[in-house]
Amino acid sequence: MRKEKKTTDNWENLQNFQARPDDIVVSTFPKAGTTWVSYILDLLYFGNTAPECQTSLPIYFRVPFLESAFPGLPSGVEQVNKLPTTPRLIKTHLPVQLLPKSFWEQNCRVVYVARNAKDNAVSYFHFDRMNKAEPEPGDWNTFLQTFMDGKHIILFGPWYDHVRGYWEKKQTYSNIHYMFYEDMVGDTVREFEGLCSFLGLSPSVEDRERVIQGVHFEQMKQNKMTNYTTVPGFDTKETTFMRKGKVGDWKNHFTVAQNEKLEERYKQKMKNITLQFRTEI
Ligand code: A3P
Repeated sequence: MRKEKKTTDNWENLQNFQARPDDIVVSTFPKAGTTWVSYILDLLYFGNTAPECQTSLPIYFRVPFLESAFPGLPSGVEQVNKLPTTPRLIKTHLPVQLLPKSFWEQNCRVVYVARNAKDNAVSYFHFDRMNKAEPEPGDWNTFLQTFMDGKHIILFGPWYDHVRGYWEKKQTYSNIHYMFYEDMVGDTVREFEGLCSFLGLSPSVEDRERVIQGVHFEQMKQNKMTNYTTVPGFDTKETTFMRKGKVGDWKNHFTVAQNEKLEERYKQKMKNITLQFRTEI
């Protein structure tokens, strides 16, 4: 019987990962805008110095997925350790308490992106429909129920704990830049400026324009290096990775009853926290 590789097979290696002080971590609950922010960072740091990579190396190799363990590929840890770049840009979906401690010890910068629970659930549902490496999501109602209850069938969950965990960590660890997908859609330029200021970067006007243009939804959707059409396990007959890129698509999926139920669960799970999300802009 073939033994599948799993993140947990590599757990010790992952937890002992040695960070470098200039590493930059992009952390998200899946489907919150990981690829978008990863590509912004990649263009910011390497758009000028390694332009050939922009046309030949998909974003998931340039910003490796730390905890990944896919059959036939080096583990995420191995990929990060082989990165020739400085800084190393590292993607993760690990909840805050599972991030290898070396990142905190080295005082690495962490860019966290959060997305409102309703749109995050919709995006995840569609992603699971196309991602043949994950279990079938079932119908929308079943999927939503699992998501709302914070059941662990959904990897890296529950959503509530993920967004809350990084928010709370930020109160004591100043090197977290906490961003919202809704703000990025609402005012990409302002969010880009905020990110640059966190990173201590002041790109030229030309570079700013180049990045802002390149990371536009339609551009990334057409770009084979960012649209994930190069991944064999993604069945794009179902839907596409770069699906809609909107705030408020949940309104096309939720029934009134589903919305009421989520709101109720949300109130229970997210009490006593200053973290606020927008579900429309
Ligand atoms: P939708 O499924 O709602 O369209 P991740 O990279 O974390 O997997 O997130 C994927 C989600 O981010 C998808 O959401 C995708 O369309 C959206 N996204 C990716 N790039 C984007 C961009 N440049 N602008 C807006 N949304 C983007």
